[in-house]
Amino acid sequence: MRKIDIFDTTLRDGEQSPGVNLSHVEKLDIAKQLARLGVQVIEAGFAAASPGDFAAVREIARQVKGVSICSLARSVQRDIDQAYEAVKESEHPRIHVFLATSDIHMKHKLRMSRDQVLEQVESMVKYTKSLVSDVQFSAEDAGRTDIDFLCQVAEVAIRNGAKVFNVPDTVGYLTPFEYAEIFRQLRKRVSGIEHVKLSAHCHDDLGMAVINSLAAVEAGVDQVEVAVNGIGERAGNAALEEIALALETRKDYYQATTVLDLSQITRASRLVSKLTGMIVPPNKAIVGANAFAHESGIHQDGVLKEKTTYEIIRPETVGLTDNNNLVLGKHSGRHAFREKLESLGYELSEEELLVTFNKFKELCDKKKTVSDDDLIALVDDEHAHK
Ligand code: KIV
Ligand code: ZN
Repeated sequence: MRKIDIFDTTLRDGEQSPGVNLSHVEKLDIAKQLARLGVQVIEAGFAAASPGDFAAVREIARQVKGVSICSLARSVQRDIDQAYEAVKESEHPRIHVFLATSDIHMKHKLRMSRDQVLEQVESMVKYTKSLVSDVQFSAEDAGRTDIDFLCQVAEVAIRNGAKVFNVPDTVGYLTPFEYAEIFRQLRKRVSGIEHVKLSAHCHDDLGMAVINSLAAVEAGVDQVEVAVNGIGERAGNAALEEIALALETRKDYYQATTVLDLSQITRASRLVSKLTGMIVPPNKAIVGANAFAHESGIHQDGVLKEKTTYEIIRPETVGLTDNNNLVLGKHSGRHAFREKLESLGYELSEEELLVTFNKFKELCDKKKTVSDDDLIALVDDEHAHK
């Protein structure tokens, strides 16, 4: 079974979510939780972006152990120097250098020719390698880069010391097949590629960040870049929790998994949501409030008889201990209703149960969900009228 490295970019790409600005202390809290989760790399920020970012990356590098700490840097010496100063005290420092390689970016943003880009990749990867051994290179907008040119870029980056070659679908444009095909082509055509790790980095503009990352896993990548709750630039990055649970639940299919401590996922999700102020939608896979909730009577009855009827993941697997997975509403049946009352300490006779259940159904027509307090009031009211 292959082990996929998880490179977490919650603190860098995730923090690029509009409206999010984490303090130094908040970043440190998140980094510590990511270390508990067991990710292999924490991209702690973009050291050259601001003095605050520099200080946060340096503090995380000093304090968070057992995991590689990485800073992003443009392919310019000043950025790389700042990144180095920020990560150098980490047990495992990594510098992540990037340069755009698509014609659109080279023409309109960089105003550089292909040859100039190749020269810059060569000199900046070589320079980074003189500072740290663990160098990651990203071909920004690789998803829209001509494949022949991307192969040339990869060859130059690898020849000059990159240990990880990352292929960002920067604007979330590709389909799963197209994305996987890039990795297949790189493996086939780039000399020296067998000595480096290939990495996937997907954005969710078309809602395909997770499936594209998983397609990359099928195509043999070694590392997947993710953010907790899928936060990130525009529509966000691939969600850590979805990738981790897809690999865990379907390792039979992917023949690959992670070494994450999945029981830390709920805690990580709640912490990131609280500190970024980005609310997790209730129907969000794995970490949404409804992800393990069953409302319909048929589903509730099934789960009460045997959980696997409607649960492919146990809530405890992701560390969910306060889960109220039977949500009572108008679709609920008598089986769940009885269980719920028993969990609240009520033992009703068949006749009492029937009367209370009918009252409950009347209440359901007035309220979307019925809370524990509603139920207690209902049963106590029924008793008082006897
Ligand atoms: O999406 C992207 O291209 C990036 C790179 C800087 C890796 O985040
Ligand atoms: Zn990105």
